[in-house]
Amino acid sequence: MKRIGVLTSGGDSPGMNAAVRAVVRCGIDIGMEVYGIQRGYEGLIEGAIKEMDMSSVGDILHKGGTMLRTARSERFKTEEGQKHAINVLSAFGIEGLVVVGGDGSFRGGLDLSERGITVMGLPGTIDNDLGYTDYTIGFDTAVNTVLSAVSNIRDTSSSHERATVIEVMGRHCGDIALHAGLTGGADNILIPERPVDLNQVCKKIIQGKNRGKLHDIIMKAEGVEIDTQELAQQIEDKTGKETRVVILAYLQRGGSPTARDRMLASRMANKAVELLYNDEKSKAIGICGSEIVAYDLKEALEMKRTFDSELYRLADTLSK
Ligand code: ADP
Ligand code: F6P
Repeated sequence: MKRIGVLTSGGDSPGMNAAVRAVVRCGIDIGMEVYGIQRGYEGLIEGAIKEMDMSSVGDILHKGGTMLRTARSERFKTEEGQKHAINVLSAFGIEGLVVVGGDGSFRGGLDLSERGITVMGLPGTIDNDLGYTDYTIGFDTAVNTVLSAVSNIRDTSSSHERATVIEVMGRHCGDIALHAGLTGGADNILIPERPVDLNQVCKKIIQGKNRGKLHDIIMKAEGVEIDTQELAQQIEDKTGKETRVVILAYLQRGGSPTARDRMLASRMANKAVELLYNDEKSKAIGICGSEIVAYDLKEALEMKRTFDSELYRLADTLSK
């Protein structure tokens, strides 16, 4: 395969630029022509496509967001939209595509694959919610962004002897809350994968208060279906401790990618280009342990995430 395209789609994540950069440079290095497609599937339908060269992706490795921009596209979900996308790709002579995005973007890639375009999916999402890979591109950076916020909140919560509920992203996955909660020393971690026991949460806070603990951090994943402000009020009513709310929201979607995310993105992109060059079938690229892996795209989408109950138990032990 000699001519490929790359696009970023869905919720953006730090490290997407590293992935795009590696697709372009690894592709050109083995004699491929690489085309950048702007604004995800919407831009594909519009033909917002231009050939990239080594310098097109200069000075982006350290930048969050995506230089190709991203978008959501309802019309791409239609038969007509996808047929149009296929026509655009064939007009440019593009035979294969690297799609950097989450599960929705992968499903779009699968549709293109079933219409004859080879698609390699790179897991670009902060949510870490794709079952076939240990980590997604952007997750590590998002966790570290939350960690720096925890440090600031810990300071002011201690000064005022307050509890703070920090709400983090992740859609229906609790990994950002679990990883940031454990490494940030949260006293309580609330995730959609486990039931919330408000009495237990408050008991821990009162125990801490009785032993002179000044602050409390309750890390809550957005997928936990309890209103965060109401939760804070209930905690305050039950414990007598002033409780505040911080919703980190889009802070977690930006920022300079960590070395780990830059490495992950670069290695995965290299694998995707290699597979396209060798005319392999559509795959989802992931990491298992320290090994970069590739699964059939359709099968990858069917793989369910396994919840790390061991890690959850450790987080609970450490927060006692
Ligand atoms: P993410 O990739 O981060 O999960 P979305 O779920 O918003 O983000 O999906 C991004 C884009 O992928 C959508 O705007 C749409 O164009 C396409 N897409 C999502 N789901 C599907 C689907 N089931 N079939 C075809 N295309 C889809
Ligand atoms: O999928 C990434 C993500 O940031 C989720 O964690 C969050 O729930 C969602 O995107 C927000 O979507 P939007 O950017 O469309 O508001």
